[in-house]
Amino acid sequence: PSSRSNTATKGWQKVGTVAQLDKTGQLLAENSPIGAVLVVGTSKAVKSLIAVNPTCSHEGCTIDWKAKENKFVCPCHGAEFARDGKLKRSPAKKPLKTYQTKIEAGSVFVKT
Ligand code: FES
Repeated sequence: PSSRSNTATKGWQKVGTVAQLDKTGQLLAENSPIGAVLVVGTSKAVKSLIAVNPTCSHEGCTIDWKAKENKFVCPCHGAEFARDGKLKRSPAKKPLKTYQTKIEAGSVFVKT
């Protein structure tokens, strides 16, 4: 592989700061250049960070993360999605779009 030592973030979109994420365990960027992104987790467990497009695949409400139940739930008509975005419960019919995440220099990025 060629040199990858530069810190350019090509292909990665910053969606917020680690401080914001760690405060509540989730970070919602509603107007990022790639659309709404919801990141769930904390910087202490980077490997288990999750990022999804929180737009419900049913009629477009913004889904909520239920940490205790380890799933996303849509407040509108009750659709449920697993932490990997997979559909668990209708009326939605499609999974959530998910993104790879990384933390760098105090910021949270998702792969575009
Ligand atoms: Fe999410 Fe209907 S918009 S269940």
